[in-house]
Amino acid sequence: MLENNKVATADLVIGDKKFSYPIYEGTEKERALDIRKLRAETGLITYDPGFVNTGSCESAITFLDGEQGILRYRGYDILDLAENCEFIEVAYLLIQGRLPTKAERQRYARLLNQHSMLHEDMQGFFRNYPEGAHPMAIASAMVVSLSSFYPEIADREEEKSLAATRLISKIRTMAAFSYKKSVGEPFVYPSSKLTYCENLLNMVFASPVADYKLDPVLVKAMNQLLILHADHEQNASTSVVRMVGSTGANLYASISAGISALSGPLHGGANQEVMEMLEEIRAHGGDVDKMVERAKDPNDSFRLFGFGHRVYKSYDPRAKIAKKVCTGVLEKLGINDPLLDIAMKLEERALNDEYFIKRKLYPNVDFYTGITYRAMGFPTNMFTMLFAIGRLPGWIAQWYEMHNDPNQKIGRPRQAYCGPTQLRYVPIEQRT
Ligand code: SDX
Repeated sequence: MLENNKVATADLVIGDKKFSYPIYEGTEKERALDIRKLRAETGLITYDPGFVNTGSCESAITFLDGEQGILRYRGYDILDLAENCEFIEVAYLLIQGRLPTKAERQRYARLLNQHSMLHEDMQGFFRNYPEGAHPMAIASAMVVSLSSFYPEIADREEEKSLAATRLISKIRTMAAFSYKKSVGEPFVYPSSKLTYCENLLNMVFASPVADYKLDPVLVKAMNQLLILHADHEQNASTSVVRMVGSTGANLYASISAGISALSGPLHGGANQEVMEMLEEIRAHGGDVDKMVERAKDPNDSFRLFGFGHRVYKSYDPRAKIAKKVCTGVLEKLGINDPLLDIAMKLEERALNDEYFIKRKLYPNVDFYTGITYRAMGFPTNMFTMLFAIGRLPGWIAQWYEMHNDPNQKIGRPRQAYCGPTQLRYVPIEQRT
């Protein structure tokens, strides 16, 4: 526990009173000031819009070092995992806390296959959803409906594990079915003969009149991209999953809220925005300078999508891997995508611009992934759904960690009220 590692004390002097608060140190030498007694002792609250300086929990799942550009899941470096694992091994690692043995991995793969189908009644949801519904909106609704199809969700260990397996397996089928619905094609069912990512690709791209030829390079790329997205400590959508879970809402409801949070263009929705931004640059003759100048203009709300990060003040390690995956996939498919050239030109221009250098704005995970997804055949509106499929094991691991943390309680931040002070009620007849 964090509080077993007190390394210093901070003194807060207010007037003639001094208050002392412990400073703890985590396993990676990050230090945290414990202010849990602040309001009771001083009457003060902290003021930290966007929680830029606020730690909501202690966690043993993911470590980020924003200055060094380090990302580790349960201590393993993201590059090691992306190069050596399949996504389901990383999902197991995040949720169970360790990498699976060969037997555990085989059993997990069998369980995921066993739970990959959707209840047949769910097909009605897809068929009756409005045309053009965004896959993230559909997924958020489908996931929360799982608690109606599987109401036996409970805190018992086997139920917890089953709920997690159900979600990780079914989210693929939901994503594939929402794509098939959008193109008016029949649903393709999951197959017990295919691996996790093979099933995802096959359910999306196969059809009754055209088998989908699984390319090992694309299957590996899909595994790697899902691994890159699998967790990222207390980002916005993970914080939402924890917050909703802290009220006692069930896992499906909490994950559904996380999907909605991820859909925002400043968060997971950025991978779709990047592609639309690159397309716009291409439509205007590939002139990246105009886009960069817009991003720098304080009077223009436009931001360079795929750039900047709350934590990374150096190159996002995931973006480095995503860029390598992207060039590998395009090369394998023999695609010369002008958007990749534009993306690289944009990166080069921004990284040499004082505005971006001063603010330590680098490419983030969303900058290159969309180009790869498009080369694979995914439409732009599926990109954030692929992010959600990757992030799901991280959300689940964080949700369970929150429930197992004795220090956790319902999330309820305070505020500094700045509205009108007490007013006398005026009956409507007297209001001018
Ligand atoms: C994800 O938190 C996570 O871990 C998220 C994520 C995950 O895995 O869960 O990594 C996934 O969400 C990645 C980020 C995807 N979003 C985008 O690519 C959207 C574009 N990026 C920005 O909107 C922004 O960088 C954020 C939202 C990512 C971070 O915003 P912050 O930390 O609140 O930064 P800020 O708004 O305080 O910006 C600091 C300065 C400002 O300028 P000044 O007021 O100091 O003059 O940098 C500027 C900002 O205007 N700035 C940008 C910019 N990002 C920040 N200017 C132009 N283009 C940008 N992209």
